[in-house]
Amino acid sequence: MKKYSTEILSIIESIINKGPRELHAPFFTSYEKFFLNKCISTGVVSSIGNYVNIFEKKISRITKSKFTVAVNSGTSALHLALIAANLKKNEEVLMPAFNFIANANAVSYLGGVPHFVDIEKESLGVDPIKLERYLLKILKKKKGEYFNKNSGRKIKILMVTHIFGHSAKIKEIKKLAKKFNFIVIEDASEALGSFNDKKHLGTFGDIGVLSFNGNKIITTGGGGAILTNKKKYFNRVKSLSTVCKIQHPWNYNYYDVGYNYRMPNINAALGLAQIGNLKNLLLSKRKLFKLYNKRIKNLNWVSLLNEPKKCKSNFWLQTLIISKKNKSLLEFIISRVNKKGIQVRPVWNLINSNKPYRYCPSMNLKNSIEMKDRTINIPSSPGIILSKNERK
Ligand SMILES: Cc1ncc(COP(=O)(O)O)c(C=O)c1O
Repeated sequence: MKKYSTEILSIIESIINKGPRELHAPFFTSYEKFFLNKCISTGVVSSIGNYVNIFEKKISRITKSKFTVAVNSGTSALHLALIAANLKKNEEVLMPAFNFIANANAVSYLGGVPHFVDIEKESLGVDPIKLERYLLKILKKKKGEYFNKNSGRKIKILMVTHIFGHSAKIKEIKKLAKKFNFIVIEDASEALGSFNDKKHLGTFGDIGVLSFNGNKIITTGGGGAILTNKKKYFNRVKSLSTVCKIQHPWNYNYYDVGYNYRMPNINAALGLAQIGNLKNLLLSKRKLFKLYNKRIKNLNWVSLLNEPKKCKSNFWLQTLIISKKNKSLLEFIISRVNKKGIQVRPVWNLINSNKPYRYCPSMNLKNSIEMKDRTINIPSSPGIILSKNERK
């Protein structure tokens, strides 16, 4: 075990050199201070302000999404996406178990029930072939709607997550969703700057979600966005994120229960500075992938997760995949490298291994279980490649 962990440790140490040892540290230049100071000097730092509107326009330009609504986290974005999709209490929502817990939590906020599905091993996203076989077995159709034969609960929403910036098989998944009339919510939280066949991730589904948390490719401190091409979703989400206030210059009236989820102006100011460096950040991530891959491809017991065919990944988190027969090395490697002060981590435990979700319906999760035990994220900060203050 020591031999294998030494191989990985020496590769990581030599590549990160004096760079950040965290999994993903944000990369700031003097622009961020400039934008933040400018925002502070206007006195408009909260949930109304022009930086938020400009930030939304820039995200729409990058993603080619017709509409963008900026909110205060990716989790809030998922929550609002589910309300817009009209999720009702006791309905089931299909989602991968190999996923961040926010997806299941957002469903629970509305009294829905997550129903876990398996992934394929190439992209670590939902497996459309396996899912179709499963759905044909468990669904029954009643008056044009689909129900889980076993629980009797309605299923009308499929959530898909693009993992570590790599595209899931989203075109095939969309075809499948069409067959069953599912609304697709596409979690592209980790995928700003990633494309499938030149189309930005998050714009394939009916509603897409981005996160700008501190560990993402660009950050607004905390933040997220909802992407959609459908006006009805845009109007609903925009209104829900601003407490469902009826527009009026001074009167306060509300047409529904809303949420105070709008992204604050000061966070958007930070985001605008970050967007200005996005191209550079994306180049640095690709370069880092190449550096790691050049070394790791010589090892026969481990590989680096690569971008799927016809896709362009943002390479948000560099990901080691240990060969099946060597998966017992995972714990040892993680522990040894962390002891050296370098942050590496396994992927999340499957969502249904957490207490609130233990008894939720699930298909056979063979690939998810296997890949969870073979996956390690390694340091991926842009600052490993970019020197301080570097922007183009
Ligand atoms: C796949 C995925 N979905 C949702 C989220 C939630 O985003 P946030 O942390 O901005 O609430 C994250 C990230 O943290 C994520 O990685």
